[in-house]
Amino acid sequence: MQSSTKVIAQLIGANKRYKSGDTEITALQATTLDFRSNELALIIGPSGSGKTTLLSLLGCVIYPTEGEVLVGGNKVREMSETQLSNLRLNYIGFVFQNFNLVAPLTALENVMFPLTLQGVSGQEAKARALQALEGVGMADRKNFKPKQLSGGQQQRVAIARALVTKPQLLLCDEPTASLDAVSMVSVLQELHRLSKEGIAVAIVTHDPRLKEYADRTIYVESGRVTDNAEFSIH
Ligand SMILES: Nc1ncnc2c1ncn2[C@@H]1O[C@H](COP(=O)(O)OP(=O)(O)OP(=O)(O)O)[C@@H](O)[C@H]1O
Ligand SMILES: [Mg+2]
Repeated sequence: MQSSTKVIAQLIGANKRYKSGDTEITALQATTLDFRSNELALIIGPSGSGKTTLLSLLGCVIYPTEGEVLVGGNKVREMSETQLSNLRLNYIGFVFQNFNLVAPLTALENVMFPLTLQGVSGQEAKARALQALEGVGMADRKNFKPKQLSGGQQQRVAIARALVTKPQLLLCDEPTASLDAVSMVSVLQELHRLSKEGIAVAIVTHDPRLKEYADRTIYVESGRVTDNAEFSIH
């Protein structure tokens, strides 16, 4: 491991249980893991095993039931709602499993949205959003609304929206599920390049083709995490 890498996010004995009626589901058992800059980590495992739960804890979308989650050195549990929204806005990029694009907004407006929240001026936000759309090959669809785009195109817009703020921690839930082989390779090359520029990237996937881009593979099964450090030739 390079000495210049730093810990971007940490789970310390963090677990997640959901209660529904009388039953309790352990979505994630107590987990201790570090996510570092310059590292692209894959999170793999069967459906329902806890992958999205793990990613959502890292993305400060949910709180752990027990244990701690630290992002950028801050204990998530001790942060106020405002501090948390600032952290999510400025530090974390999240590509959701279901894209989560805003339906009435165009592709360009969707990508501009986080920049507008950051207070970036309209002109600069537009230029940066266009650049991010170009990066995923979607500039020619900039005025299309989500429902006018295919699944793979929506996925690429969601990736552009996550990258446009230049986050330190990039979390992607199945980012290549709807992509053809060519788009998949270009997205993965971009994510790999970004990780080498110093950000921490975690990708949930079922796609074994992604392994060659990963520095590390984390397995999740029945809520239990196994950190199997596998370093690729990249
Ligand atoms: N909000 C919730 N309330 C109750 N149970 C939940 C909730 N979210 C997730 N779970 C349960 O937690 C377990 C893990 O779910 P999770 O979404 O993390 O799986 P996953 O590995 O991402 O699956 P997939 O590959 O299908 O997306 C599942 O059994 C699921 O039913
Ligand atoms: Mg999931």
